[in-house]
Amino acid sequence: MILTPLLTVVLASLAQFTVAQDDQGPILLDAEHNYTSIIGTWSSGSQAVSTGPDFCDPAKLTFNYPKNTGVSYSFSEDGFFELARYRFNSNGSDPTCITGVIGWLHGEYTLNANGSITLVPFGDGFQQIQDPCAAVSNFIETYNNTEYYRGWRIFRDPTFGPKLHLFGHDGIPVAPQFQVSTTPTMFPKQLLRNNTFVTVSRRSVDGDEEDLARRESGAEAVLWKSKVVGFVAGAAGLLAASAVSMAL
Ligand SMILES: *[C@@H]1O[C@H](CO)[C@@H](O)[C@H](O)[C@H]1NC(C)=O
Ligand SMILES: *[C@@H]1O[C@H](CO)[C@@H](O)[C@H](O)[C@H]1NC(C)=O
Ligand SMILES: *[C@@H]1O[C@H](CO)[C@@H](O)[C@H](O)[C@H]1NC(C)=O
Ligand SMILES: *[C@@H]1O[C@H](CO)[C@@H](O)[C@H](O)[C@H]1NC(C)=O
Ligand SMILES: *[C@@H]1O[C@H](CO)[C@@H](O)[C@H](O)[C@H]1NC(C)=O
Repeated sequence: MILTPLLTVVLASLAQFTVAQDDQGPILLDAEHNYTSIIGTWSSGSQAVSTGPDFCDPAKLTFNYPKNTGVSYSFSEDGFFELARYRFNSNGSDPTCITGVIGWLHGEYTLNANGSITLVPFGDGFQQIQDPCAAVSNFIETYNNTEYYRGWRIFRDPTFGPKLHLFGHDGIPVAPQFQVSTTPTMFPKQLLRNNTFVTVSRRSVDGDEEDLARRESGAEAVLWKSKVVGFVAGAAGLLAASAVSMAL
């Protein structure tokens, strides 16, 4: 059996590629790894999701729900990134409990020497989570996590051209993305909203809407309350729109 050890070697190297790229030393930006530059806008699947002003309004904390789920990343020549994602997470134990997550983030990126990417946000990122089975079924919150990707590759798809593969911090691949444009579609590369509060809008059992607002540091909570009202109204409006998209 000559094939068995060979196959094992192939499988082992594939596994290593997907889970441990940042352990493999300096990245080689050769034709195989970097078929084209990462600069531009990338989008997965049906390309319904794209970074840029069509996706959301960071100042108002609102989203324009795309027709389909997907992810989109943009990278600029001068070191800025933006990402947009919209997904449904299914629940194995209860198929009716599907969680919808839509989010947006921008900031600065670094292509690290060991082949990983670090995305450091400005502080105005936000996301909306809809979980019909949770106590708070629909809320918008600020999202300011630094994201780390263990590796990335750009291949050439014979039909669709350059194809970007990103691997998350745990090695799990992000949906492959095709290059939508070589010039990135992005918001201005600066902070677009100063406030860092978390807004929650939820529906109580009798159908009435209850709005909650809180801020990370309790001291300024009252100060922020008046500003929050406008956003909560926006979030409540989204409830109706998002109920439709959840049903689709
Ligand atoms: C790869 O480089 C980044 C940035 O320097 C670092 O944070 C990360 O720990 C490195 N990964 C490994 C496996 O050393
Ligand atoms: C990738 O390849 C392009 C084209 O050769 C080059 O301009 C770019 O600097 C390379 N590196 C990255 C990180 O995109
Ligand atoms: C799945 O749904 C159940 C309620 O039916 C919930 O208790 C559980 O936390 C959910 N799991 C996930 C991963 O969301
Ligand atoms: C967002 O995260 C970045 C990077 O960690 C940090 O510099 C910035 O202060 C954070 N902004 C807010 C509003 O938390
Ligand atoms: C945030 O606050 C700073 C300092 O007050 C101000 O210069 C800037 O215009 C504000 N940015 C936004 C997006 O409101």
